[in-house]
Amino acid sequence: MLKLLTQVIKVHPQKPEKEVMAKAAEVIMRGGLVAFPTETVYGLGADALNPRAVERIFQAKGRPADNPIIVHLGDLKQLEILTNYVSPRASEVMKRFWPGPLTLIYPRSEKVPPVVTGGQDTVAVRMPRGKVALALIRALGRPIAAPSANLSGRPSGTTARHVFYDLNGEIDLILDAGPVEVGVESTVLDLSTQPPTILRPGAITTEELRGTIGEVALGKQCQPVTRSPGTRYRHYSPKAEVSLVKQNAWYEIGKLIDQYIAMGKKIGLITRLYYPHFDSSRVIIKVMPRGLGEYAKEMFAALRELDEEGVDCIIVEEVEQKGIGVAIMDRLLRAAAH
Ligand code: TXA
Ligand code: MG
Repeated sequence: MLKLLTQVIKVHPQKPEKEVMAKAAEVIMRGGLVAFPTETVYGLGADALNPRAVERIFQAKGRPADNPIIVHLGDLKQLEILTNYVSPRASEVMKRFWPGPLTLIYPRSEKVPPVVTGGQDTVAVRMPRGKVALALIRALGRPIAAPSANLSGRPSGTTARHVFYDLNGEIDLILDAGPVEVGVESTVLDLSTQPPTILRPGAITTEELRGTIGEVALGKQCQPVTRSPGTRYRHYSPKAEVSLVKQNAWYEIGKLIDQYIAMGKKIGLITRLYYPHFDSSRVIIKVMPRGLGEYAKEMFAALRELDEEGVDCIIVEEVEQKGIGVAIMDRLLRAAAH
């Protein structure tokens, strides 16, 4: 079947054009799908209160129906549609971190379509600080349901080009405001437990959360993933097989390269160190920034670029598990799980 090209419109990342926002809001109002930048990654947005529109998100991404979607707010008034109960602690946390990359879990009101929450009785909500995301939700005047704008299981999209690559023909519109600010997804926090539980490490660090609410626990989802076959956590994965190695393990990397070459494989290496002794005709090296914030911005793009180069295996050096490094390592471990 012939599929129509998805329309792409450029938009100013800091001062999104009113006409463009109005047009995108109209597409969503009519039940369409619009990919748009948030501060973390590109999101694939639909009207959160229109179950048929949200259904289309699952189809476009090939997303399992039991994986719930985050609802994005433009103002606090919209939270009243989604939940009937906001605890004092939740108010405090929202005051401190919204708008921003922190997702909170609330008991869901009957107005939230079950398709949004994967049938669960809770709903995940955040108010993004990305200017385009906020302008779009405000132009629409309703909350927007939006998972990351990638095919299910693939690395999240941090540029419009990534989104186009995965979803062209499946969605109505992509708003292109250039690369995103952060590069990893929001932190997902459940405040209903004592202490609160981080369900997914992300752009707001554990250290920052502890500074505001004291003790927080790491949820089961956050435990280091096993690399056993069939784990349901395979995620963020390029087509190539990903192997994680310790920092500065140049000897181990050299051995891996030799092994892969002997198997006739094409190899990529993602590292923050420059290894002049690795022959560039044998391995494609992506040298990443030293700073973890800069690293986060480029991580998903590096995985996708090596895929496009057609490598069979990607060797990735670990990063320090501190600050945003915790979220980076979470994504790398999941990318390596197979
Ligand atoms: O930064 C982000 O969070 C991006 C941008 C677009 O906002 N969105 C994003 O959505 O990463 P997605 O769908 O790729 O990831 C949503 C995560 C999943 O791990 C999902 O299981 C979890 O949030 N989640 C959603 N609703 C939940 C709920 N009711 N309870 C627990 N976890 C939930
Ligand atoms: Mg995702």
